[in-house]
Amino acid sequence: MKRLCSPKCRLATVMGWLQIILGGLVIVVSLASLFKLYNAGFFLHNDDICRYFYSVKDAYDGFDLKSLNDRVEEILERMDNLQETVEKNAQNIEKDKDSLDKTNFPVQEYKRFLEQEVLRPLYSAHMALRQIRLPKPEGIRNSTMKVEPLINTFITEEIRKYITPKENRVGKINVYGTERIYNTIGHACVLMKKELEEYMDYDIGSFCKDDWNLAQKLMLNGCDPLPRRRCLTRASKVYQKPYPINESLWKLPDDRNVRWGNYQCRNFQCLSSKNPKRGYSTCTGCFEMEKEKLKWVTANGSVPVNFMIRDVLATKPGEIRIGLDFGVGTGTFAARMKEHNVTIVSTALNLGAPFSEMIALRGLVPLYISSNQRLPFFDNTMDMIHSSGFMDGWIDLLLMDFILFDWDRVLRPGGLLWIDRFVCNRKDIDDYLYMFLQFRYKKHKWIVFPKSKDEVYFSALLEKPPRAV
Ligand SMILES: *[C@@H]1O[C@H](CO)[C@@H](O)[C@H](O)[C@H]1NC(C)=O
Ligand SMILES: *[C@@H]1O[C@H](CO)[C@@H](O)[C@H](O)[C@H]1NC(C)=O
Ligand SMILES: *[C@@H]1O[C@H](CO)[C@@H](O)[C@H](O)[C@H]1NC(C)=O
Ligand SMILES: *[C@@H]1O[C@H](CO)[C@@H](O)[C@H](O)[C@H]1NC(C)=O
Repeated sequence: MKRLCSPKCRLATVMGWLQIILGGLVIVVSLASLFKLYNAGFFLHNDDICRYFYSVKDAYDGFDLKSLNDRVEEILERMDNLQETVEKNAQNIEKDKDSLDKTNFPVQEYKRFLEQEVLRPLYSAHMALRQIRLPKPEGIRNSTMKVEPLINTFITEEIRKYITPKENRVGKINVYGTERIYNTIGHACVLMKKELEEYMDYDIGSFCKDDWNLAQKLMLNGCDPLPRRRCLTRASKVYQKPYPINESLWKLPDDRNVRWGNYQCRNFQCLSSKNPKRGYSTCTGCFEMEKEKLKWVTANGSVPVNFMIRDVLATKPGEIRIGLDFGVGTGTFAARMKEHNVTIVSTALNLGAPFSEMIALRGLVPLYISSNQRLPFFDNTMDMIHSSGFMDGWIDLLLMDFILFDWDRVLRPGGLLWIDRFVCNRKDIDDYLYMFLQFRYKKHKWIVFPKSKDEVYFSALLEKPPRAV
């Protein structure tokens, strides 16, 4: 059997071995699960079933069976793909036999094939199995969890590195008084494994892909917070210094300061609401300064739901200094408030247009956050929360409840909640109003106004009462 094999026969041998190894593995896993289930009491009588529910945790202790199972499934899939590729290639070799005889077998090609199509998948399959981290039986020091959350869900090395808790250097206590730092990712990241792996596929220290839109897609679908990355983000090649603050607030920024690659438009003029191909549908008109300049300073007699900033601030003269503008926009609310010496942070997502860039270039603070997350402010700190254009009739009541309680948390006693033109279906308005009424805030202003036959506007200016408990 020592004779030299032809390439094809060698491949066949490799495949044969792989299949035997995998077959063995599957049998081991099956036996292991059977054994675990047996231990767990699956084969006992009815009156023992409840004991199963108590003991199943113990049975799985020290062995992350589910991850192992997932990995094996994944590897089987990869092996299937590999087998398909190899077989296809073998057939091609057969077909090209005649030409092969003439040209001699292209050794380089064969080497490339082995490296790219066979060795690489084999290697990653191997890594996937090796990397399953068995839980430490004693737990991670003081923690009761016996394996790092989610670690076995991911194979990509950079994701694993990121979510593995980082122990302090020996004998040191960190500034938070904890033994280790957990880098967090949103739990829904597991639902978008493929996208997350694509996002985390880069060479450490080199330039990232221009993929903020992939990152945003991940965030909006619940992979929020996203892992940090160790690659350099790209910037506009022709970045100009921003306009001075006395000019930047009310001027469209320099087009050269935005990377337009992932937007439909290529400059700020193009984002005008008159352009049907502007590529976004939320907050149309927000990039037209002549329209923005009218907001919150010019009353519209026919629509009493627009409150003026001057009137709102007059309810608490001198008391409103910092706040949050929760919505979709280009920072005009913050710009106006800045003129009243109030510092406003504006939430912004780049929904088809460079909202964050625009706000920042105007000299205001964009807070890049989705509605998935708890606000990054401490309890009882904000003087004002202004909300417009984000929460509308689409919002689920339970989601809205969580958001409103979070707003209540960060508002200080005496702080103002300004609901600005909340739009919803006429038949839903009572449900929504209840959501706001439940907090028993003091009503400074409260208006429900018809928008169309089926829709209504709701605006309110509410004050958080003192909480003496
Ligand atoms: C960990 O547990 C030990 C013993 O129970 C205790 O002395 C120590 O303070 C704990 N460390 C932390 C950071 O909780
Ligand atoms: C803005 O301020 C700078 C100096 O601080 C001044 O030279 C410039 O004229 C100002 N621009 C406007 C439009 O007021
Ligand atoms: C006032 O509101 C109406 C209805 O929304 C609108 O058509 C009109 O353009 C507004 N006028 C001004 C001056 O903003
Ligand atoms: C804002 O602060 C500046 C400097 O303290 C002051 O000159 C200006 O009058 C203030 N503006 C308002 C609207 O209070």
